[in-house]
Amino acid sequence: MKRVLSGIQPTADSFHLGNYLGAIKQWVALQDTHDAFYCVVDLHSLTVDVDPKLMTERTLKSVAQLIALGLDPNRCTIFVQSHIHQHNQLAWIMECLAGFGEASRMTQFKDKSQKAGSDRTTVGLFTYPLLQAADIMLYQANLVPVGEDQRQHIELTRDLGQRFNSRYGDTLVVPEPYIMKAGAKINDLQDPTAKMSKSAASQSGVIDILDEPSINIKKIKSAVTDTGREVTFDEAEKPGISNLITILSSLTSKSQSEIEKEFSGKGYGDFKGEVAQAVADYFSPIRNRSLELLTSKSELAEIIKAGAKKAEVVAEATLAKVYKNLGLLPRKGSE
Ligand code: TYM
Repeated sequence: MKRVLSGIQPTADSFHLGNYLGAIKQWVALQDTHDAFYCVVDLHSLTVDVDPKLMTERTLKSVAQLIALGLDPNRCTIFVQSHIHQHNQLAWIMECLAGFGEASRMTQFKDKSQKAGSDRTTVGLFTYPLLQAADIMLYQANLVPVGEDQRQHIELTRDLGQRFNSRYGDTLVVPEPYIMKAGAKINDLQDPTAKMSKSAASQSGVIDILDEPSINIKKIKSAVTDTGREVTFDEAEKPGISNLITILSSLTSKSQSEIEKEFSGKGYGDFKGEVAQAVADYFSPIRNRSLELLTSKSELAEIIKAGAKKAEVVAEATLAKVYKNLGLLPRKGSE
């Protein structure tokens, strides 16, 4: 069975619709066909200031949401990144393999560091993609299901894997990105030319899956729409409507053209009402299940513990191979 790895940061009280449609929906599908490893990347979320209490809470909330969204701990491995120390160890190797210029070209780093200013940009933000490369190659993953915004990080991972293999012999599996055509970039409802994001200045265009259905219905009904009245998919001319068509199509079995046909001549109001209801119907049971899972923290802890145990075996085997091929002297008694 081919292997899959992906990760998500516990940086908010809820995952948003972009996280689900861009990534987690594919994670759920791939657990049936692949040996799948999914991690809550708590170390990645340390690149900005954290509140320790929130960190613990959000990590548990993340695991609860992943299960409520359809990950089954019996069919995939769910774990917390900081439980497996080998991530940091392989990250150092990646840092020594990557060029400074190469890392400086990462657009997410450029955007975020520009916004924060150099005094508030951490070194961790700069090395973030190298820890991500380590996450992926530590599990010898063949596929990495992510949203479009992660394409460049996966490209960098591939380059580093190829570089390692050509210098030190075949060691690491070079992964492929797994990015869907539709849903890989869900946009903000109030600014449909920008991606939906946890760090958006205003949350009025962000659909949190743990929010009350009534809040999400309201947000969708007040989504920015475009000039004209026709519900047609045209990303350049109608980014707002196109984004809503993508959302509706991804949550139902309706295709883009079926949606266009259904709303032909009906106008934006009816259409937004239908999208709002579809989102509420889809996420309302998931919200309830997440909240229910969060009432039994010991059960969640057991799942996380079992995940770490499975992840550790794979991680240690890869790291040992990497160290050996680099010629690092084996510790006495462990060779
Ligand atoms: P994070 O937590 O920022 O995002 C998690 C996933 O959600 C996707 N995503 C979106 N997809 C579509 N539309 C959007 N508006 C949208 N916003 C976010 C992201 O592409 C991502 O797949 N760097 C990773 C975390 C990570 C990782 C890894 C991923 C760390 N190590 C190893 C894969 C493999 C990230 O963006 O997390």
